[in-house]
Order: sequence, then structure tokens, then C-alpha cells
Amino acid sequence: MQSTKSSESSLLPLAPAYDSILELAPYQTGKPVEELTREYGISDVVKLASNENPLGCSPQVTLAITEQLGQLARYPDGNGYYLKQALADFNDIDIERITLGNGSNDLLDILARSFVGSDDAIVYSQYAFVVYSMLAKMQGATGIEVPAQRYGHDLKAMSQAVLDNPNTKMVFIANPNNPTGTQLKQDELHQFVAGLPPSVLVVLDEAYIEYSPDSNNRALLDTYDNVVIVRTFSKAYGLAGLRVGYALSSARVAELLNRIRQPFNVSRVGLAAAEAALGDQDFIANSRESNKEQMRWLEKQFDALGLGFVKSHANFIMVEIEVEMEDVSAITVNKALLEQGVIVRPLIAYGLKNWLRITVGVAEDNLRLIDTLRSILLDDQV
Ligand SMILES: Cc1ncc(COP(=O)(O)O)c(C=O)c1O
Repeated sequence: MQSTKSSESSLLPLAPAYDSILELAPYQTGKPVEELTREYGISDVVKLASNENPLGCSPQVTLAITEQLGQLARYPDGNGYYLKQALADFNDIDIERITLGNGSNDLLDILARSFVGSDDAIVYSQYAFVVYSMLAKMQGATGIEVPAQRYGHDLKAMSQAVLDNPNTKMVFIANPNNPTGTQLKQDELHQFVAGLPPSVLVVLDEAYIEYSPDSNNRALLDTYDNVVIVRTFSKAYGLAGLRVGYALSSARVAELLNRIRQPFNVSRVGLAAAEAALGDQDFIANSRESNKEQMRWLEKQFDALGLGFVKSHANFIMVEIEVEMEDVSAITVNKALLEQGVIVRPLIAYGLKNWLRITVGVAEDNLRLIDTLRSILLDDQV
């Protein structure tokens, strides 16, 4: 899928930098509640589509935001000193090894733009977070998708793919993975990193780490300069609307990323909110506990409905809609759920057409989901 500009497309007016940009489909976000209300006239909507924290965020955040409201005319601290200092303490790492992002997606983008050119390749797994393949296309690079193993990363095959493609510059790994919820064993991941050339940057995307502390591979940064860990305040910290993420890396990599990022890529409100959120680890522990309890409940309900699912280590779960009824599929079930005010995420874009990804909500949301799903499947309302 090597993609530079073909002579044909370079003749077009306003041709993009690379032909592969023409293959890009815009990232499909979870349907916003407001959109469903507008389209279907339903006001009582449950959104279980974007892996947001159903408990909201720490009350400390509201306080921190309020303090910033009188300062909105002033630019934020472009270096995000206080947030970085708090992150340095929290992660036991030097402050110059941290880069802040406008959400972790911003960092994934900055990483690709900093390191990957059109002669390079990016390796990622089938069913891994869709943004990785999009970044390869954006950079006009070769995207190498390695077949998954039981819906998770096949590290041996990924290692082989890197060796087979000496132009590999970057490997993306989501751990736990979105949308499958799978998690890698720490020793396997360490072995994988140890076997790669030091010129290949391994980006570990730990967006869901707070729900699965076993996925924390911070220790790798003590040994390998070619590892970057990317995290976000959008999920367990409950700040998706504010857009704050961060990367931990070697000081050299951070220095390069800081050349590429926009000068004020995290807002004044975002910086203050993230710092306050990080300071409230009780909120995170409660969120993790609630998620675990509700995940167990959901698993039991899916079993009772005869629906298959992949064991998840995050705050969402992938459920298989494979029923022996004519005209019933993940697509029709998704539509019926929307009509009844429940938003989940179909996974067609991932090549998982029989599956829906469902964010774990609070008890009330989950009950509504299961009741609606049961009525759709048993009463055949599709
Ligand atoms: C694995 C993974 N990485 C990164 C992101 C990006 O999140 P944000 O830009 O809100 O930090 C997401 C969001 O869904 C995700 O699932």
C-alpha cells in the first residue's frame, strides 16, 4: 500500500499530498446524544458508545475549572509546567520526558508526523484502534496490518512483520486494545520490545490503563529509548470534552515531539482540570471498582441472552450479534437500539460486522441497554 503521489493525481487541482489521503474515511465518532435527540426526537438517551466515564469526573475538577474562568483572555502556559510536574511525580519520571497533547489522539498524530515519512512503514494489528492505519495513510506511508490472534495482538507475527519490512519506523500497540478489550502479558511485551531494532519506535497506547493497572508498562521506559507510552484524561479521568493527553518517552523523543506540537495545544482549562483530576486517585479507584462490578453484571446478561463476547480489560465490551433470525444483524440491532435511545458502537469499520462495542455504563444505563436488547432480540423488533 505504498502511497506517494501518482502523476495522475498530481495533475488534479488541489491534489492531496499523498494519494493515500484519498483512501481515508473520516474517523467515525460515537453518535452524540444531541444528534440522536435531533434525529429521532428522543430526549431520554443513554450513550454507551465512546468509552467515556459514566461517573463523570472528580469534583475537584469543577473547582479547578472555576478558578480559571477569570483568566480566559490569557494564553495557557505553553509548557504546561504544573501539569507536567504532577505527571512527573505520578509516573516517577523526569519532566523533560513528558509531552502534552490535545487528547492522546493529538500525540499519536504528532508521533507519526515527527517520525514517519512516505518511504517508511507503520506496523499495527488487525482490530487495533483505527487511528493507527489512518495515520499511515495521512503520512503517505505503508500501513502493515498484522492478523490478530484471538482478537488481540499477535506479537510474534508483529515482530516478524518488522523484520520482514526494514523500512518499519513505528509500531502501534493498544493495551488494552480498543475495540476488542484484549490485554497483553507484560513479559511477552517486554520480549517483543527487546527483539526490535532500536530505530523502531514502539508506541504503547494505554488509553484504558486506569481500568487495568496490569497493563502499565511504564518500566519499559527505564530500559528502552525507543518506547513511548501514550495516555489520556478522556477515559477514566472523565475529561473527554476537554481534550488532554500525555506521552512518556525518552528525553530525546520528547524534545522532537515538542518541536512539532502546536505551541498551546492544551487549553488553560484543560491543564488545570487534568492536574486536579490526577490528584484525585480515589475517584479513579471508585471508577475502576464500579466498572468491574458492572462489567461482571453485563457479562452475565450477555450469557443469559446467548450472546458471545470477548473478555475485556477496559471499560467497554465487544458483543457478537449472531442470531439465527432472518434480517437480524449487528446493523439492524444497532438501528433498533438507536430508535429506542440507546447509542452503542457498530464495528463495521473494523471488519467486525457482527459485533457491537458497548461502553460499560452505570447500573441504570446497563439495565436499560439489556432490557432494550432483550426486547429487540426476543420480540424480533427489527
Ligand atoms: C486506544 C485509544 N487510543 C486513543 C484514543 C484517543 O482518545 P483521546 O484523543 O480522547 O485521548 C482512544 C479513544 O477512543 C482510544 O480508544
